[in-house]
Amino acid sequence: MEHQIRCTVNGVERMLQVSSEETLLKMLTRTLGFTGAREVCGMGACGACTVLVDGVPVSSCTYLAPFVNGSTIVTIEGLAHEGTLHPLQEAFRTFGASQCGYCTPGMILSAKALLDANPKPTEADVKRALAGNLCRCTGYHRIIEAVLSVARGEVHV
Ligand code: FES
Ligand code: FES
Repeated sequence: MEHQIRCTVNGVERMLQVSSEETLLKMLTRTLGFTGAREVCGMGACGACTVLVDGVPVSSCTYLAPFVNGSTIVTIEGLAHEGTLHPLQEAFRTFGASQCGYCTPGMILSAKALLDANPKPTEADVKRALAGNLCRCTGYHRIIEAVLSVARGEVHV
């Protein structure tokens, strides 16, 4: 079954035709060309495909596209502004919190959702917020430090 949906993606309103079984990941990557969300496990277990739907991190590989009707979606491509990286992107770069980069878009978007809701998280808060985002390269320490550096105001959100 086909559905006509309206949603806002990275600040631009879209009218799209999606099928009942189409995932949000497919809609974003194949239809709209936002390839920052990565498909790794394809089953909601790794967080590499995380995007924000109405400010909430979701695994876009298991989230059905018809459900974003009326929603606002942010992908990693929506964070930089006029050529300036978002502070979390800047902090990840500064702290070397990205190696292969597969987990990075999802990590940053989960961290953004955390800081939007709780600008002064503890280390435990950061670990909890990123628990659904797996990284096989960095050992997590640099990622957590990058997020905390933004929260401490060393890099401003
Ligand atoms: S690719 Fe979606 S959670 Fe792993
Ligand atoms: S930087 Fe490679 S999986 Fe996280």
